[in-house]
Amino acid sequence: MASDLTAPILDALSASDAPILSNEAFPSTPSLNVKSALDRLGSRQMVEYETKDKEVVTLTPEGREIAANGSHEAKVFNAVVSALEGLKIKDLPEIVGKDNAKVGQGNAFKRGWIKKENDLLRATKDSIVDETQEQLRAVERTKTIDDAKTLTDLKRRKLVTLSKEITYIISKGPKYSREFVKEETDLTVEMLTNGSWKTAHLKPYNFSAKGALTPAGALHPLNKVRQEFRSIFFEMGFEEMPTNRFVETGFWNFDALFVPQQHPARDLQDTFYISDPLTADPPREDPLNDPHRPKAAQPASQTTREKPLDYKKYWDDVHEVHENGKFGSIGYRYPWNADESLRLVLRTHTTSISAYVLHKLAANPRPARFFSIDRVFRNEAVDATHLAEFHQIEGVIADFGLTLGGLIGFMEVFFSKMGIHKLRFKPAYNPYTEPSMEIFGYHEGLAKWVEIGNSGMFRPEMLEAMGIPKDMRVYGWGLSLERPTMIKYGVSNIRELLGHKVDLNFIESNPAVRLEKE
Ligand code: PHE
Repeated sequence: MASDLTAPILDALSASDAPILSNEAFPSTPSLNVKSALDRLGSRQMVEYETKDKEVVTLTPEGREIAANGSHEAKVFNAVVSALEGLKIKDLPEIVGKDNAKVGQGNAFKRGWIKKENDLLRATKDSIVDETQEQLRAVERTKTIDDAKTLTDLKRRKLVTLSKEITYIISKGPKYSREFVKEETDLTVEMLTNGSWKTAHLKPYNFSAKGALTPAGALHPLNKVRQEFRSIFFEMGFEEMPTNRFVETGFWNFDALFVPQQHPARDLQDTFYISDPLTADPPREDPLNDPHRPKAAQPASQTTREKPLDYKKYWDDVHEVHENGKFGSIGYRYPWNADESLRLVLRTHTTSISAYVLHKLAANPRPARFFSIDRVFRNEAVDATHLAEFHQIEGVIADFGLTLGGLIGFMEVFFSKMGIHKLRFKPAYNPYTEPSMEIFGYHEGLAKWVEIGNSGMFRPEMLEAMGIPKDMRVYGWGLSLERPTMIKYGVSNIRELLGHKVDLNFIESNPAVRLEKE
């Protein structure tokens, strides 16, 4: 550690009534050390100081050598003048050294101090003035060179350099004292019991000091964006669906949605199946309807006016519409397997929840709007933009006389609430909707069209089996929560958003989200 200058500074001040100059009082101490001592003393008002910096000339190591022992040419002259018979040229390096001989010989000739006679060097005068040495000695004393030509010359010869010298002009402060007393920052039990608190120097409070950051929880970006979407849904009159069931039967996840049992989405490669237990019971009145459960947990569509749901009939109708066709549909015409329908899966989309809620709605059909935002699971290869689990935002609108134009119109309003104003719709295929549309939005920031969602009108094969009236139509659409979040927070790798690679700093420091609303 650098030596502590606080005591020497206080001593120097006590010896003089005038301010002291750091470069005179502590000529060989680096100015940083002086500064840190001054700051400690200054913070207690024991000293005051001003800073002055000026350009100074300092000698290089070679310059210091010449100031002490003379220039190359002077060394050459001295060697030559003391050889009364003349000095053999080839002996010079041995006497004055190689470097001196090389540089000094030429300079001594130039100055007319020596001449050459055959292979001998002879002095032309008895004595010389070593100007270079004198200049450098002057620099050593004054740290300046008045003559500009001399300065450039010495700089070119790398004998001097220019540098900044910081000088502190130090004077006594209002609380000056000869001694630097340690100030107590804490009042301790010992100080109280042994009475030393009476004489202790307590450090004054610094009321403008910044407090330490209080550790606090932070919302994950996905949660923030999710909250924004929830607000949009709520302001458009949607009810939130209960999504607290990650494990579903194939029935709710696929069959109820008219997804045939051979559909590739049901493959092991795409869907996670539960191994223990393998299967569930067929659908029946479920525990959510338990009258002892708190009211809030009841599905929103429950009212006392509803007709009881016949789960057996529903199950049979789903079977029928797949295998033989019903409700005006010819069906898929394959042998429907009840066991396949009872296999347990990690839900691959939240549309399983929509199916469940729509089935409840059939007990009391009425115009209704539902949404959910929750986690889904797909057996996918994980890469920069895909994880095996992600979040889906899903919306459902049920009403009488809905049309495809209405769905498009609704999408324009819905997406404009998150700042997406240009939409394109592309015909698509979903087993449970007809017609189906992929939704593309023009992203102004990325300057390109990005796929933002999937949508459609649920098929009668799905709705009529549930008991939804024939003239009731239902829109459905879904999008991922991750994609808008990644765009919003400029994250290009999804693994920086979810999972073990997430940087907690990023989570703690990211700002609140505002979808650009109108
Ligand atoms: N389930 C669809 C998906 O996973 C989204 C969707 C929901 C499409 C409802 C149409 C109707 O992409």
